[in-house]
Amino acid sequence: MKDVNVGICGLGTVGGGTFNVLTRNAGIIAGRSGCNIRISRVASRRSRDDLALGNIPFSTDVFDVVNDPEVDIVVELIGGYEAAKELVLAAIANGKHVVTANKALIAVHGNEIFEAAEKAGVVVAYEAGVAGGIPVIKAVREGLAANRIDTIAGIINGTGNYILTEMRAGRDFAEVLKEAQDLGYAEADPTFDVEGIDAAHKLTILAASGFGVPLQFEKGFTEGISTLTPYDIAHAELLGYRVKHLGIARRREDGIELRVHPTLVPKSHLIAQVDGVLNAVMVDGDAVGQTMYYGPGAGDEATASAVIADIVDVARSVAAESNQRVPYLGFSPDAIEDLSV
Ligand code: HSE
Repeated sequence: MKDVNVGICGLGTVGGGTFNVLTRNAGIIAGRSGCNIRISRVASRRSRDDLALGNIPFSTDVFDVVNDPEVDIVVELIGGYEAAKELVLAAIANGKHVVTANKALIAVHGNEIFEAAEKAGVVVAYEAGVAGGIPVIKAVREGLAANRIDTIAGIINGTGNYILTEMRAGRDFAEVLKEAQDLGYAEADPTFDVEGIDAAHKLTILAASGFGVPLQFEKGFTEGISTLTPYDIAHAELLGYRVKHLGIARRREDGIELRVHPTLVPKSHLIAQVDGVLNAVMVDGDAVGQTMYYGPGAGDEATASAVIADIVDVARSVAAESNQRVPYLGFSPDAIEDLSV
């Protein structure tokens, strides 16, 4: 069985989860991927004494991973925009494949990153950036490959959904947000969660993956949940509705509409039943009709599950020494009809 070497950059919530699941389920993962996926190096600003790193080289400089000739796949889990962009572009320039959970990076700098990856003949995979552990990118790219996608809509921020769920039970916004931070669900800057920015990042990526348009974060409408009061939520309930924070991407005659905002959903609708940190994404395709994907939208091992799915995907082609890399957004950047409104 061929070895494929993975270097992990960032040992925070998702990095720690990825390390633990890759280690714990090594046998299962080897069976599924057909290769031996080895963690050959890790780097993080802070060490994690709780992780069984053993003899795996650890350093505080992520470029030790990026510049290690042994590493085949760089796993970017440091988050943020600029440092992560520098790291990913350097990895691509070194001919390494990249797996990332960084939705902010992909939504804002993705077009440039995918173009560099295409030229270098490497893959940048980002399943874990959208809806945590739910394999929704694989669903729209692969499972629904035959379809013209018409609508993608759902709950795509776990922290926001957790806050709205707990507020329904009468709890205080600030107290629940603190709890979501303690549980490792919230972004480093939680305004990204409560002002809808994180959901807008994810919607941008879903729309690009589903509709084949370039990433256009700046073109969507974004509103968060920070101005909602317990009174709004209680009144919606009285009228037979639930307040859910949704991301909606819809094909219209004049382009693709992207919007993120609190929405009144009839209590009987499946989306209204999705509570806590769970996410749910509905996708309408012209052949299949409506489909729905549901599961944990945040958390260490749930998100690690998606990171590792991408590692397995990329490792299979590394092990096969295949030159036939699938472009990750499913389009060639210079052959796109810009459908944005
Ligand atoms: N802060 C994000 C959320 C993490 O709550 O959904 C997962 O992307």
